[in-house]
Amino acid sequence: MPTDIPEPQAVCDSISRSAIFMVATLKAGPESASTVRALCADVAGLVRAVGTRAPPANLSCVCGFSSDGWDTLFGAPRPANLHAFREFGEGGRRAIGTPGDLLLHIRADHMDLCFELAALLMERMGDAVSVVDEVHGFRYFDLRDMVGFVDGTENPRGREAVEFALISDQDPAFAGGSYVMVQKYLHDMAGWDALPVEAQERIIGRKKLSDVELADGVKPSSSHSSLTTIEKDGQEVKILRHNMAFGRPGAGEFGTYFIGYASSPEPIEQMLENMFVGRPPGNYDRLLDYSRAVTGGLFFVPSASLLEDLADRDPQASANESASAG
Ligand code: HEM
Repeated sequence: MPTDIPEPQAVCDSISRSAIFMVATLKAGPESASTVRALCADVAGLVRAVGTRAPPANLSCVCGFSSDGWDTLFGAPRPANLHAFREFGEGGRRAIGTPGDLLLHIRADHMDLCFELAALLMERMGDAVSVVDEVHGFRYFDLRDMVGFVDGTENPRGREAVEFALISDQDPAFAGGSYVMVQKYLHDMAGWDALPVEAQERIIGRKKLSDVELADGVKPSSSHSSLTTIEKDGQEVKILRHNMAFGRPGAGEFGTYFIGYASSPEPIEQMLENMFVGRPPGNYDRLLDYSRAVTGGLFFVPSASLLEDLADRDPQASANESASAG
């Protein structure tokens, strides 16, 4: 990791077997905002308190804030590329934006640690927030997702993960931070399972059992892996994904929670456009014939050191400061 960027949150930590994703909205009023701000300084200590009791389980928690959430909680200065979730597609194939000021991405190899930390964080926030979505995710055998394919193979690793997921000189005041997009997908499993495995492989762009990428000439340009492979100025641009399966078989619910980190929202938005609208338009991702996005949010993840400092931020004072500077 470059030594000149502040310590990041656990964005680049390796794959875990369990996760809890919580999206919450802030209740109105200054007390709610100050309760959540105060928690910013305590998250790291709570992760240590729970995680140290089971060291091999790699407990971590990443906190992110939406554009509106940031303005209410912290005011100016704000991250350069933070904006509301941009929607793509139309009709039944649509990436929708849904409410949420705060995202908690809690990960560990054992669900009991995730659960304990989520409970402690919720106890601290109390009535200051309303949780609008909570998903308990797991990895199927061989780190597979709900549609039965290994998920995360082409993730950048090591230095590459840091380079693609974390901000450095693009926005120096927010270096060590990241942008994260989440979407909760529900699958038509009966429809998906009725497809021959070869048809599923052409949709994903990889072999189902071996996880080997389909050869050029065999892999369709509409495959998920083709449409999410993008370039800028002739160079491939990657994002860092930590997707999880979730569901309630008794309720007929089978899903994939998509979560992607990047140093700017732009590549993730480009991938979404390719999937939902198509590249070229109409050549869309057939995975979407069997998957529906029911939530969508974009959040900024401050570096660990900035997160701690944000506890002391007074949004009113910073508004007055920028008014007098202007
Ligand atoms: C229904 C939801 C989704 C499922 C089940 C899914 C599943 C998969 C699978 C199985 C792979 C191949 C293995 C791998 O490299 O990880 C993959 C690759 C990938 N996915 Fe998704 N994905 C979903 C949504 C998304 C979304 C919304 C994005 C971006 C906006 C995305 C971006 C990517 C990228 C960048 C790759 C790697 C492509 C490559 O370099 O070959 N995925 N996904």
